[in-house]
Amino acid sequence: MLVLSGVTAGYGPVKAVIDVSLSVGEGEAVALLGANGAGKSTTLRAISGLMRLTSGTITFAGIDIGALPPFKIAELGIAHVPEGRQVFPEMTVRENLEMGAFIPRAKAERPRTLDLVFTIFPVLAERRGQVAGTLSGGEQQMLAVGRGLMLKPRLLMLDEPSLGLAPVVTDATFAKIQEIHAMGMAILLVEQNVSRALTLVRRAYVLESGRVVMHGASAELADNKQVQAAYLGIDATEGRVRR
Ligand SMILES: Nc1ncnc2c1ncn2[C@@H]1O[C@H](COP(=O)(O)OP(=O)(O)O)[C@@H](O)[C@H]1O
Ligand SMILES: [Mg+2]
Repeated sequence: MLVLSGVTAGYGPVKAVIDVSLSVGEGEAVALLGANGAGKSTTLRAISGLMRLTSGTITFAGIDIGALPPFKIAELGIAHVPEGRQVFPEMTVRENLEMGAFIPRAKAERPRTLDLVFTIFPVLAERRGQVAGTLSGGEQQMLAVGRGLMLKPRLLMLDEPSLGLAPVVTDATFAKIQEIHAMGMAILLVEQNVSRALTLVRRAYVLESGRVVMHGASAELADNKQVQAAYLGIDATEGRVRR
């Protein structure tokens, strides 16, 4: 459904993403892994039209989206839940969610989608009248995901949903993402939390300095000594957990 082919993009002279090729199938969950600064967020920005491509192509459902503005890409069904949640702190939970349905197709469905989001996230239903800035970090993450769902996307892109959350809150967040995926939603998950991400997705790509250095099935990557050493805190020679 989503296909990136030889995508290069950057900030002025700095190439943050270099010759990246990856794909996400209909209803598939795929992770994009890598250390801080590897180019994960830039890749998502390139997909959602927030960055211009220097070279390469991006297609979604067979349509070339590489030069489309963000609004058009959203209209085609790609929702981008940004790093750091970026909810509107002065607006209520409900208003934040309504902001997510900013394209005509989603606006028409708004009451029904809102009900669905409240069913998935009962805590958002309870707090619908509360201003978002007073929510906990985990609740704000759920609100950001809920806002993404309000677009009625075919692909949900999540940028580091576990960032800054306590482990137990991360567990709850990932359980919700799993639930949304089980409803048939395709997911492109960006994470530094590699072990957690690999339990959720079927396939993953590893980025290093803007390039894809590895990709494969989650189980293969979890067993890969290089991945274990670099990202899972397991000593490559002794198979022991470092620390
Ligand atoms: N707004 C920006 N201006 C200039 N350089 C940036 C900007 N955002 C990111 N970069 C650089 O691009 C590279 C990739 O960043 P990013 O995509 O945010 O990585 P990640 O999400 O994997 O942590 C890094 O070297 C980073 O310093
Ligand atoms: Mg990032």
